[in-house]
Formats: sequence, C-alpha cells, structure tokens
Amino acid sequence: MAQRVRKAVLPVAGLGTRFLPATKAMAKEMLTVVDRPLIQYAVEECLAAGIEEFVFVTGRNKGAIEDHFDSAYELEDTLVRRKKTAELKQTEDSTIKAGNAIFTRQQKPLGLGHAVWCARHWIGREPFAVLLPDELTIDKPSCIGQLVAAHDKTGGNVVAVMNVPREQTKSYGIAAVKPEKDGLQEITGMVEKPKPEEAPSTLALIGRYVLTPEVFDHLDKHETGAGGEIQLTDGMAKMIGQQPFHALTYRGQRYDCGNRLGFLEANIAVALHRADTAVDTRALLSRLLKG
Ligand code: UTP
Repeated sequence: MAQRVRKAVLPVAGLGTRFLPATKAMAKEMLTVVDRPLIQYAVEECLAAGIEEFVFVTGRNKGAIEDHFDSAYELEDTLVRRKKTAELKQTEDSTIKAGNAIFTRQQKPLGLGHAVWCARHWIGREPFAVLLPDELTIDKPSCIGQLVAAHDKTGGNVVAVMNVPREQTKSYGIAAVKPEKDGLQEITGMVEKPKPEEAPSTLALIGRYVLTPEVFDHLDKHETGAGGEIQLTDGMAKMIGQQPFHALTYRGQRYDCGNRLGFLEANIAVALHRADTAVDTRALLSRLLKG
C-alpha cells in the first residue's frame, strides 16, 4: 500500500505578467472567481481529497494570501455583533487549521521547478501533491482527489493530463504515454513547451500532480530548461523509468485562469454552475447578449 498523501505544495510566487496591471501590487492567486479567490478553490480541492497540510511558496506582494487563511478577528467580531451568521461562516470556513500551513518564500521567480524545490524541507521524504492555483478544476471527486486515489493503488508519481489542440502544445508540459490500462497511462517521456511539430502527443499537464520526494534530488541541480527557467517537467522527466509514473486523463471542467479569457470563462461557468447564482446569471447573460 502506498504512503498516504498528506501535504500539498501551492506555488504562488509567479509574477502573473499576463494579468498586469491587476497583479502589480496583488497576487494573481487572489483574483476572485465569483466570490472566492483562486487560492481558496485550490485549498478546498485539497481538503476534499483528505490533504490538510499546506506549503505555500510565495513571493513579494503575496501577503494577502497568508492573511486570507488567517482568522480575521475584527471582521468576525463585527459580524457576530451584527448577527450576520452566513457571512461569519463564509469567513470562518476560509481559515486553515492552526499549525497546518507554512509560508516560505521563493525570492526570485526562477521557474516552477525551483518554486517546488523551495518546499523541500517542509515536505520531507513523503509523497506530496502540487496544485497550480491559477488552473481551476471543478469536479467530484476533485482532480487532486482522483490523483490521490490513483496513487493509493500504484504508488510513485501520478499527474493529471488533458488533450489539447496540437497548436497549443507550446504552452504546456506534454507527456508521451503507453495505451490506457485501468484508467491510467504509463508515462514514457515528458517535455516542456514543445513546438506542435515536435510534441510527442497532445496530452498536456494541467497543474495537478502527486509526486515522490525524489523529484527534489533532481531539482537540486538547478538545471534550466525551456524559457531559461528551472522546470518542474524536467525534474519529473528524470524519474521516468526509475519509479512508477502515470498520467490520469482528467475529464472534468478545467479553466486556465492564468489568462484573461480563461479567467472570464471560469467566472461565467462557475456562476452558471452554482445553485445560488445560476438563474440570475443566465438572465444576465441573455440580457447582455440581446443588448
Ligand atoms: P505561470 O507559468 O502561470 O507564471 O506559473 P506566472 O508568473 O504566474 O504568470 P505569467 O505567465 O507571468 O502571467 C504557473 C504557476 O507557477 C507559479 C505561479 O505562481 C503559478 O501558480 N510559479 C511560477 C512560481 O511559484 N514561481 C515561478 O518562478 C514561476
């Protein structure tokens, strides 16, 4: 039986240049989809999967993330006095249990692989999850929950993939795989941001991973790859053939909130999906489209 996944790394130290000027003084991960920041969706996804310990890898301008998961005493006190019970619950629900979150800094945005490496001392030698919070996935069981369940069976590394149009391979890590067996595909190769004509497949990594701590040993070397950055894909690729490495095709909804159109789509889709906002959003959209 594989060791249980208890911890998640949430890398949030990127510059978010595609969202300037919004990200000039604020973290991209604090952008809200309907009424909660992206980072909260990622934390809730983990909690639903039984993961309760978090390592946030932050950078400058990210202080609001730490405050978001803290209790907000003055606000909560005011809500109690005003008998705003529902609002109080919303506020309390976004708090992470005392002692269950660590905030460490990646001083320079040297790449996703480097950001994950910055979490190494807090993870230790056990399997762990990585979630990129600007990728929003909505499904039950959650995307990371599906990976954790697969890892329970196979051990080793398990990453979520989705088919993308071939012209988009240059925006993703792409996996080469063997045919599917029991819902999983064994990974035989992995390359970061290949040109469409060079991509080994159209299976893109979508920012959800369960990894073994050996990845830190490879990231330790600080080798740079695509775009001059220390790439997580390159660190992961070194483990192929050394230990089990599988891809799970995610079939739920996924929105790339790192770009403006994907973020807009996520807001509309989530509002249409949620019972408390669906009817009004539908009416709003049809009014706007008529106008
Ligand atoms: P992105 O590739 O979306 O980069 O990072 P970015 O800097 O956030 O955004 P753009 O491209 O400039 O608009 C994917 C994830 O990896 C984290 C980001 O915070 C995001 O969650 N990341 C990336 C780091 O933590 N450190 C890095 O050095 C790079």
